[in-house]
Amino acid sequence: MLSNMTKTLSGKVALVTGGSRGIGAAIVKRLANDGATVVFTYGSSQQKAEELVKEIEAAGGRALALLADSGNVDAVKGAVAEAIKAFGGINILVNNAGVYWVKPYDQFTMEEFDLTIAINVRAIFAAVQAAAPHMGEGGRIINLGSIVADTSMFPGNSLYGMSKAAVAGLSRGLARDLAPLGITVNTIQPGPIDTDMSPSDGPFAPTLKSMTPVGRFGKGEEIAAMVAYLASPEAAFITGAKLNINGGMMI
Ligand SMILES: NC(=O)c1ccc[n+]([C@@H]2O[C@H](COP(=O)([O-])OP(=O)(O)OC[C@H]3O[C@@H](n4cnc5c(N)ncnc54)[C@H](OP(=O)(O)O)[C@@H]3O)[C@@H](O)[C@H]2O)c1
Repeated sequence: MLSNMTKTLSGKVALVTGGSRGIGAAIVKRLANDGATVVFTYGSSQQKAEELVKEIEAAGGRALALLADSGNVDAVKGAVAEAIKAFGGINILVNNAGVYWVKPYDQFTMEEFDLTIAINVRAIFAAVQAAAPHMGEGGRIINLGSIVADTSMFPGNSLYGMSKAAVAGLSRGLARDLAPLGITVNTIQPGPIDTDMSPSDGPFAPTLKSMTPVGRFGKGEEIAAMVAYLASPEAAFITGAKLNINGGMMI
């Protein structure tokens, strides 16, 4: 096994929002395995978060779980501050936490509208405002958008699609603003990935599989692999990109 000093992300500190389950947990594990110290937030899955920290520590890595509701700006900024305080800085920010609510447009409440924006979009902006001044040359920001930003496969996607299109636009603007500081900003747009949000045996699964040329759902690890690459030193020339990881769904 490679020693910590020879791993791609040795010496780096990463913050992953929504790391307790699903894609976020796969990202936390991958970045830790690549040598980063990983701080991650969770909203309610405390037990899963604690188990993940133990799993990483048992494998020789370093991780810290923080309760921080992405719907609350102070909590998001507080998590960034705690990560910096605990480990002396922040090099990689992965904005992964997100919610997916499906409903006919006329059944959504304005509270749900505001909450969708708060968790899926505003939290990203808040985290970037708090983290970027501390990142410096080589900083990496990776935002989780969705294929639904570009295509709405089912009815009921209005708010989610709006929020993920906003993530893509926000990322592009930030990429320009932060390029002079040596910080890259990219968006990953997954297709169907097998998680609680989109289970591969759920009601939409047969249709989603039939729309995907590779004929299956993706795995959280397959998104985490792209995050790890974008976080690595060799991805320094990639910024403002929108990467569709979707088994060919949009080709
Ligand atoms: N799965 C897919 O097919 C798919 C496709 C395209 C894009 N995405 C995007 O990928 C990201 C991860 O999705 P996923 O499938 O892994 O979802 P998931 O299985 O539902 O997990 C969501 C994660 O986000 C956290 N989270 C949710 N609301 C939060 C809040 N208010 N504050 C803090 N953390 C919160 C959850 O933590 P707690 O349980 O602790 O609250 C959990 O760790 C999301 O941005 C999603 O939109 C997913």
